[in-house]
Amino acid sequence: MKPQPDFIHEFIPGSSSRTLLLLHGTGGNERDLIPLGRELDSNAALLSPRGKILENGMPRFFRRLAEGVFDLEDLKFRTNELANFVTAAAEYHGFSLDNLVGVGYSNGANIAASLLLLRPEILHTAILFRAMVPLIPSRLPDLSSVRVWIGAGDQDSIVPASETTGLSELLRGAGADVTIRFANAGHGLTNDDLVAAHDWLRSLL
Ligand code: MLT
Repeated sequence: MKPQPDFIHEFIPGSSSRTLLLLHGTGGNERDLIPLGRELDSNAALLSPRGKILENGMPRFFRRLAEGVFDLEDLKFRTNELANFVTAAAEYHGFSLDNLVGVGYSNGANIAASLLLLRPEILHTAILFRAMVPLIPSRLPDLSSVRVWIGAGDQDSIVPASETTGLSELLRGAGADVTIRFANAGHGLTNDDLVAAHDWLRSLL
């Protein structure tokens, strides 16, 4: 018997070759983004892990020292741990890593961006809602076959616009094709974000 992948997670099989890797925000869990995943793509399989860090009882994907100030050593460790989980989960559940789309919100978007920068073999497409610059890698990966959609909120009190543009410049500097969209919203997601992300995902070949 194959060993269970080592994150608490949900896996919902789909009817296409695409799998969405759903990464929740601080205080969320593996069930949070399942409805959003289904709205983004009704046919894709869904893989949704729960972050292993607890901050005052709230699950996260990596430690932070303060709001927006990340523990970079922990972030690097957790990024590799998550990448290894995804690889093990693909084998365990029998889905292909060739068509994996990262979908993250807030803390989950930040670790998805970190996956792109540190483990570029994992994601070729990513939807990042309310993302920040997670870290600056010592060497930029080659992201020339990667497409990223960043959904920001123009009244977001946690993620200033400079973080959104900083992240897109970093990813573009590595060769990624980046689309940024500012919603008339704060840090929370709106239906408008979802519709725009859904349309972008559907427009991909
Ligand atoms: C983070 O810690 O990743 C960001 O500050 C977003 C958040 O979780 O509030």
